[in-house]
Amino acid sequence: MNMPRSISLRPFILGAAAAAFSLVVLGRAQAGGSHHFPPVVDPLVKEECGSCHLAFAPSMLPASSWQRMMVNLKDHFGDDASLDPAVAAKITDYLVTNAGDRGGQRYGDKLLRGVTSDRPPLRITELPKWVREHRKVPDWEWKHKEVRTRANCTACHVDAAKGYYDD
Ligand code: HEC
Ligand code: HEC
Repeated sequence: MNMPRSISLRPFILGAAAAAFSLVVLGRAQAGGSHHFPPVVDPLVKEECGSCHLAFAPSMLPASSWQRMMVNLKDHFGDDASLDPAVAAKITDYLVTNAGDRGGQRYGDKLLRGVTSDRPPLRITELPKWVREHRKVPDWEWKHKEVRTRANCTACHVDAAKGYYDD
């Protein structure tokens, strides 16, 4: 059987059903482009922003989004993600410096196309371009027990933590 090479690295593959699911999804995800979103390298950001979900690539949102998010970590999508103010300030600095509308990011601008600055989005999964890229993903895949939420990028993108979303 022609399994994608990286499949054995996926931590959630516990049974045949999960493996079959990932084959379906990966098969299609692999048809995409080869854009790279540099992953978080700062250990502090990795630790504090990568414990509940993937430490999302800073280039996936504009600086204004990160600023808006970081001033209200107490109500972070219904969770309390509050941090010591000094730690929060360091993390904000990192996210803003590496944001998609700051220099040095090659592909962030494409994901941010259509985003307006008057009300910065808090979700990557609500960016017009993200929604368009995922419009063909059927309902049952989002609801699959190995996915559950659109924010669970790694369920479908095995190399998301490395910044690759084309497989
Ligand atoms: C206590 C757990 C927790 C911590 C710590 C946490 N988050 Fe979250 N985060 C969540 C939850 C819950 C959601 C909503 C996920 C969903 O919709 O399924 C979320 C969603 C997000 C989203 C939006 C994802 C989307 O839908 O596009 C971003 C961006 C984000 N978090 C960034 C951060 C950053 C930056 C930090 C570090 C400062 C952080 N998170 C720390 C729990 C956490
Ligand atoms: C249910 C599976 C699934 C989840 C969860 C998911 N994606 Fe995707 N994603 C896909 C598929 C399938 C494609 C390919 C669409 C196509 O090629 O038409 C895709 C495409 C993409 C692309 C475009 C890739 C390219 O090179 O053109 C990006 C960027 C992306 N996803 C980012 C994310 C991020 C960030 C998250 C989490 C916040 C996420 N995805 C969650 C299935 C998923």
